[in-house]
Amino acid sequence: MLQFLRNLPKIELHAHLNGSLNIDSIRELAAKVYGVQTKEFSTLCERFIKFEKGAKLDDCFEKFGFVHELTSTKEGLEYATELVIRDFAKDNVIYVELRTTPKANGNMSRRSYLDTVLGVIKNKSDLYKIKVKLLPSINRAEPVAVAEETVALAVELATIEPEIIVGIDFSGNPNQGNFKDFIPVLSKARNHGLKLAMHCAEVDNPVEIREMIRFGMSRCGHGTYLSDSGFEHMKEENIPIECCLTSNVKSGTVANIGAHHLKQLMATCAPKVLCTDDSGVFDTTLSDEFFLATESFGLTKSQCIALTMEAVEHAFATREEKLMLKMQIYKYTRLQNK
Ligand code: IMP
Ligand code: ZN
Repeated sequence: MLQFLRNLPKIELHAHLNGSLNIDSIRELAAKVYGVQTKEFSTLCERFIKFEKGAKLDDCFEKFGFVHELTSTKEGLEYATELVIRDFAKDNVIYVELRTTPKANGNMSRRSYLDTVLGVIKNKSDLYKIKVKLLPSINRAEPVAVAEETVALAVELATIEPEIIVGIDFSGNPNQGNFKDFIPVLSKARNHGLKLAMHCAEVDNPVEIREMIRFGMSRCGHGTYLSDSGFEHMKEENIPIECCLTSNVKSGTVANIGAHHLKQLMATCAPKVLCTDDSGVFDTTLSDEFFLATESFGLTKSQCIALTMEAVEHAFATREEKLMLKMQIYKYTRLQNK
């Protein structure tokens, strides 16, 4: 089964750039950015992927600082972006939507951050035989003014690269910031044709969940704490829940894998996609996530193929791109049946 899943051409719709650097790639990046690696750095790497039992969501957010340091220069960000694209391609992901929060520091403005990531996507996608899209992220823990700058840049760059910049991700620590404050800027993005992938119901905040549902979204990140009527609404509106099994278990937002809402979504034929979230931080791959789903919920090979086809449907891709992706998946499944 694992080999079948590794070879299956896959679709990744929820991947944060800085969270998707696996530990070997972090080492590779560090060697490039810092030169020779120290013992201290190796210890930090070990700690990076270690999760204590009972870890909380807030603990996860502290881990990103480690990678953010490595990607705080143009050179580091460039190399990191290539490594992430390479690693998804290695796992036979044929289409990935990368999300990332543009960051300004002494080395880069938010514009040059996005230009850098865009440049790598344009230059390296063909090399790794993978289609890559970009969703600039709004970090809800930052001021609304930052989100306004991000959306203005996304809107502008989307006119130049409409095939790459296709949406906006709303993310960040759900225990920080107030969704309502971001409604005007999210509306602006939507009015300019950008799709919205929103982290919603990652924590139990019924008031905010209701506000988000009322506002609407194209895809729902996690959806862990949706009520039954919330799940029902998503199904009626054909809004898929981006399920990130390992991420949810390791960050403690679900009690254990058996309690994951993927089970309910499968049983009710509600729209859903399997994703990694932060394959580096959570030390996983999309193939591993599928395998976990087969082991935990008894998914068959054909259900895994169906889930992959479903992901194509929910991708922020053009009709032609979707057709190409489906053909690639179909070709693989036909070979399997021979
Ligand atoms: P970056 O945007 O490329 O720097 O990717 C890391 C960032 O993505 C983190 O600092 C968070 O803002 C966001 N992020 C990653 N995983 C999650 C999640 O599970 N929930 C909410 N935000 C997340
Ligand atoms: Zn996420």
